Amino acid sequence: MPTKILEKEKLIPGKTSKLVLDAPHIAKTAKPGHFVMLRVHESGERFPLTIADTDAENGTITIVYLVMGKSTAMLEMLGVGDEILDVCGPLGKATHIVPNGQKVICVGGGTGVAAMHHIAKGHHKAGNYVIAVIGARSKEFLLFYDDLAKFCDEVLVATNDGSVGITGLVTDPLKDRLESDKDIAEVVAVGPVPMMEAVTKLTKEYSVPTVVSLNSLMVDGMGMCGACRVTVGGEMKFTCVEGPEFDGHLVDFEELKIRLSSFRGEEKVSMDKHQCKCGAH
Ligand code: NAD
Ligand code: FES
Repeated sequence: MPTKILEKEKLIPGKTSKLVLDAPHIAKTAKPGHFVMLRVHESGERFPLTIADTDAENGTITIVYLVMGKSTAMLEMLGVGDEILDVCGPLGKATHIVPNGQKVICVGGGTGVAAMHHIAKGHHKAGNYVIAVIGARSKEFLLFYDDLAKFCDEVLVATNDGSVGITGLVTDPLKDRLESDKDIAEVVAVGPVPMMEAVTKLTKEYSVPTVVSLNSLMVDGMGMCGACRVTVGGEMKFTCVEGPEFDGHLVDFEELKIRLSSFRGEEKVSMDKHQCKCGAH
């Protein structure tokens, strides 16, 4: 249904924005891990975004997106007071929250930190000890540090250039922690596919159960088209209805990477046409 934008914050100008949407039904029913499907234009594609936060009292949800193609570029053109043509949700399965009182590490990379935020909040509300490990290329790309610091028990930061936190990738503080702390019940990872793959390789060495939130290509988001299929433990799964979270140690990341790159050519053509129409170049 058409959904009004109540607030917009450009987190990284031209690259990433945060929107607060007037969506009382979704705000009331969405749980950590759920996503929404958006359509910005009558002839536009539908695409998924994991919910970054909800406020049931005020009837709002928060989404954060990386401008990657035509659809997110069109979303970026909307402002406060505009309506998104269609926002459908909550979709997918909610995060499985480990029982109260356990120690959980929530890893987020780049824009994935926003989606991880809602999952970390769920663990915090359930009474778990939450360690957030977040990473970005540099300080100006680091998202949600202040939001996470409000409720997480610890927030560990890594940047590729060392402009804030330690110099390195999220897997560096994660490795240090897994080495020194044998009390971790679960690791959750959300971010670029190579990051989630690297996290699962690492946690396997330490035998720590690991959940990843997969950003598969989606068309209907309702289990009917098969576009979002992934292989988990040798079985085909539909990310939209059986995920988006899966046991990271069982995910076929090679296949996921191939599927995600299969429409890159078409996406580029569509983005170039859109930029020409908008006079962006
Ligand atoms: P990025 O490429 O700038 O990476 C962000 C951080 O992730 C890096 O600083 C590093 O700490 C870590 N990282 C990246 N590659 C790594 C590797 N091989 N090993 C270990 N750590 C690694 O991120 P970006 O440009 O913001 O891209 C965000 C990506 O996240 C997009 O591809 C987007 O589709 C994806 N995403 C996924 C979800 C989801 O639900 N899974 C949600 C939002 C965004
Ligand atoms: Fe169509 Fe999942 S997006 S089956």
